[in-house]
Amino acid sequence: MTDPARGDPLAAFSWHPEPELVWYADEAASRDAIAGLGAAAWEVALDWLYEEGLRRPTGGAGYAELRRDYFGARPDAPAPTVGPGPAPAAPAHAEAVLAEFRARLLDRQFSTVHRRSFSYFAPPPLLMSVVGELLAQVVDQCVDVWHSGPSAALVEEETVRWLCDLVGYGPAAFGVLTSGGVMANTMAMAVARDVHLARLVATASAAADADGVWPGPPRAGALAGARVYASDQAHFSIARALDLLGFEPDALRLIPSDDRFRLHAAPLAAAIAEDRAAGLRPFAIAAVAGSTNTGSVDLIGELADLAGAEDLWLHVDAAYGGGALLSVRDAARVPHLERADSVTIDPHKWFFQPFDIGALLVRRGSDLRTTFDREAEYYRTPGHDEEPLSFYRLSMEGSRRFRALKLWLSWKHLGTSGLGRLVERTNDLAAHLARRTAENDDFEALPSEPELSVVCFRHLPGGPEAAAKIDEGTLDTYQDRLQRALEASGEGWVSTTRLRGRTWLRAGIVNYLSTEDDADGLLESLRRLGADVAWSMGLPVGDFGRPTDGRDRSAGEG
Ligand SMILES: Cc1ncc(COP(=O)(O)O)c(C=O)c1O
Repeated sequence: MTDPARGDPLAAFSWHPEPELVWYADEAASRDAIAGLGAAAWEVALDWLYEEGLRRPTGGAGYAELRRDYFGARPDAPAPTVGPGPAPAAPAHAEAVLAEFRARLLDRQFSTVHRRSFSYFAPPPLLMSVVGELLAQVVDQCVDVWHSGPSAALVEEETVRWLCDLVGYGPAAFGVLTSGGVMANTMAMAVARDVHLARLVATASAAADADGVWPGPPRAGALAGARVYASDQAHFSIARALDLLGFEPDALRLIPSDDRFRLHAAPLAAAIAEDRAAGLRPFAIAAVAGSTNTGSVDLIGELADLAGAEDLWLHVDAAYGGGALLSVRDAARVPHLERADSVTIDPHKWFFQPFDIGALLVRRGSDLRTTFDREAEYYRTPGHDEEPLSFYRLSMEGSRRFRALKLWLSWKHLGTSGLGRLVERTNDLAAHLARRTAENDDFEALPSEPELSVVCFRHLPGGPEAAAKIDEGTLDTYQDRLQRALEASGEGWVSTTRLRGRTWLRAGIVNYLSTEDDADGLLESLRRLGADVAWSMGLPVGDFGRPTDGRDRSAGEG
């Protein structure tokens, strides 16, 4: 309420055309205006969803064209322009700002909700998670020191517990939410270094140290000779983490995966024996359960046995594959995670959450504090009968978003069983897509049956015999051009990746809005677009398909 003696506080904000949307401390002055802003923003959101998001996976523009379109559409842009303008100096009406979002951004998004959008691992977000993001931003908790997000810390504790239960960890386990798998893997390597390698180094040196003084966590020279093992399918973040953590450039030894892209214990055991004989210090295995390229799952049981026998830390990157645990039917495809010392699991992949939310889980939760705890004089929490839970002591981050809320709300909304059904739906769709590639001569998949919900496949223009006559490099280029043609068409979206030195289309199916008809339609689009691409590359494609404009390909034009 306005105090007549002090004047109207809103008047101090009259420099803005909508002061009630800036100084919103008075309900009578602001509540209706805020409700109007919310309704207007939600309308824009729904317009995006139904006019654009479900219409096409991307705007289709290439990078240079998008820059021109986006920057050129600036209200103040001197045309032509291809770069950012100055920051807005003067205030504007909310309506005008939302109108600019509509004009410049509405049709220039990547859509995870499009039914033929088979993205990296970006799912359509659950609506209750979107609501969770909205509420988290309004209550604006900072989940670092307990004081600044008191119950948010408990919500994070609760969701972390649910994730630990899913993995099969016992009561000593704990974890932290992260920005994603890269951060979780990086932190996992830090824990492996400061807890496990620390113990190995200390044990080795304690024998020589007459005073029995144990060194602190290994740094600099103490990292010499330390070795971590992963397959050739490990996520790039493992190698980068080891670099950042000060290890030697060859600290990561990559072991070839099998024909299904999985790491076995036997070749790893041989590598470890060789390294020990050379005087090196093996200390960790970084396995993957659900690799980025193909969704392959390393043989975690075997690797856990080996880690036990060799006294190695076992980290499992289940950033994507961990979602399979939500399904009673499919959990066995990602077995034995409870045997890992640490696990990465990203709810923004197969738990259908909007970005960002990843997680690092550690079997002995106290290892997080051993690794990350630091004193911050300004983050004091005296005066409590029990030490409050402050996540900055367990994490690399300081200020931290209230990431847990969206997972908490949507998990309650769907239940584990509902989330599991969505996972099963995407696994079934991947199996269907792979089956279709097997039934059609002009497609092939690798591996032929997907481990989880990733399908890597190629179009063979003209069918297998014609494609066999095309040199490898040209066939690879064809896949890249086909991917781009699909993107530009707006009919669907897949990425590309390299497997065993060759280029493949890759459908990461975490889209639970898609149906079998969408997968079939995707292949149809690729085949039709492929005819044009093949023609433009002068490929001999025989009787398979015709260029869409009826040109005679056999003339070898283009
Ligand atoms: C197996 C795996 N690990 C880690 C990551 C990195 O996760 P993020 O990009 O969320 O940090 C990915 C990303 O796709 C992944 O597939």
